[in-house]
Amino acid sequence: MLKISIQSGKARAPRADAHIVFAAGAGRKEALVSLPADLRARVAASGPAAPAADGAFFTLPLGERGQAARLYVFGAGKETEISPRKARGLLRVAAKTLNRSGESSAILDFPLTLKRMDAKETRDFLLRSLFLADYAFPRYKSADAEKTPLAAITVQPRGAFAGVEAREVEEARAFARVARLVRDLGNTPSNDMLPRDFADRVRKEAKARGVKVTILDKKAIRKERMGGLLAVNRGAAEEPRVVVLEYRGGRKGDAPVALVGKGVTFDSGGISIKPADKMGDMKWDMMGAATAMGAVLAAADLRLDVNLVGIAALTENLPSGSSYKPGDIVRFRNGKTAEIDNTDAEGRVILADALDYAAEWKPAVILDYATLTGAALVALGLEAAIVFTDDDALAKELVKAGERTDERLWRLPMWEEYRENIRSDWADMKNTGGRWGGSINGAMFLKEFVDPKRPWAHLDIAGTAYYDPDHAGYPVGATSFGLGLTLRWLRDRLGPKKKGTRGD
Ligand code: BES
Ligand code: MN
Ligand code: ZN
Repeated sequence: MLKISIQSGKARAPRADAHIVFAAGAGRKEALVSLPADLRARVAASGPAAPAADGAFFTLPLGERGQAARLYVFGAGKETEISPRKARGLLRVAAKTLNRSGESSAILDFPLTLKRMDAKETRDFLLRSLFLADYAFPRYKSADAEKTPLAAITVQPRGAFAGVEAREVEEARAFARVARLVRDLGNTPSNDMLPRDFADRVRKEAKARGVKVTILDKKAIRKERMGGLLAVNRGAAEEPRVVVLEYRGGRKGDAPVALVGKGVTFDSGGISIKPADKMGDMKWDMMGAATAMGAVLAAADLRLDVNLVGIAALTENLPSGSSYKPGDIVRFRNGKTAEIDNTDAEGRVILADALDYAAEWKPAVILDYATLTGAALVALGLEAAIVFTDDDALAKELVKAGERTDERLWRLPMWEEYRENIRSDWADMKNTGGRWGGSINGAMFLKEFVDPKRPWAHLDIAGTAYYDPDHAGYPVGATSFGLGLTLRWLRDRLGPKKKGTRGD
């Protein structure tokens, strides 16, 4: 991960290879005005063409006496107020360019402002994006792994970074370290990310942080009578797992927040098998679980004053002679039954048990994260995840948190009229609800497993958990979408910072 520090006015910083800045404006003149005065003079004197297109850049030698050897001016487009997504993309392009050019250290100026974010949110967003700007997953590349000399960045405390504090950099670093882990979990192919691999990795990370970890193996899952998880697992040669993380940063008696995640390490669809095209994407069908685990680990790193329980339900969904089949009736941990109409609607079947299990901790709130439905992509495309909850206040809080971290949520309803869609002739419900309102039908199914008095929200992240190809300034693959908004929401819930606490 990059080393990021703040340029202090007093100490003379060591000379850097590169100085990065972003210029925006309709023409050359305007673009120059957006630069800090000292750099503007340099660029004006040298006279190359202004960078116009997003991400286009030019370099200038800065001579022997300057703080950096070369200036890199990146074009940021027409406006000096840009979207968070664009900022994320620009920082990524900059990191890539410097790496390709062999620069190992850089000074960074960010003279633009971000849409929808105040100064503090902007700093947090930019710092996190910077720590993630060079994210890659080279584990399986042998010969042609790209060189990444860029190691250290010094941010200039002006422009968007005016007033930046060392603590903000530290917090962004802690966040990004976990976001990288969450992405790695997702990007690792399913042959190396079996339920037990996921569980082992999370156990290691939890232990390193003093977070309590319990792993249920198949025997323990049987004992818990998690009939849904066991049904989905029947086609797989690999055992299922349930991982439980418990972080106690809050007061002793305080009810925890429960974070539950869908962890299908590979979803072939099972007997209702998926078409071959894009099936490989289903290695990312565990991103809900990765997000839930990551949020607990990051909360521990940031020492948030909250009690958390994280629950990941893990299995593969595969066809075989022992698979669960359409028409089967499954009995869940809470005693309810469901007719399996389609074995590819497996996420709700495993989450049913996990949500019911979460109630054992008597949580104040339950959030679940799941790449649950392709219909989420039909509804909102790649730009937002769906939030379902009957709690208006919770909906508002989550949507607001997502606005502040650029992880947008859009609410859809769970009106009782939709319950009719999952009515079964043979069991308490069936696991699909026809063609219309596919994401809502999934949410209606999950609702059967949560006490209506307990605040609960379901996040269908199928459209935002991973991108292939790359999109919105994220690299190809897992995005860690949901991690930032969850931590933001947890901090907002704690209220304004009191002396001696680590709320914000
Ligand atoms: N994991 C998929 C949903 C998914 C699709 C996530 C595309 C990301 C991208 C889920 O298990 C699934 O297959 N859902 C079915 C449900 C249907 C059978 C009711 C779907 O969306 O088609
Ligand atoms: Mn499926
Ligand atoms: Zn799935």
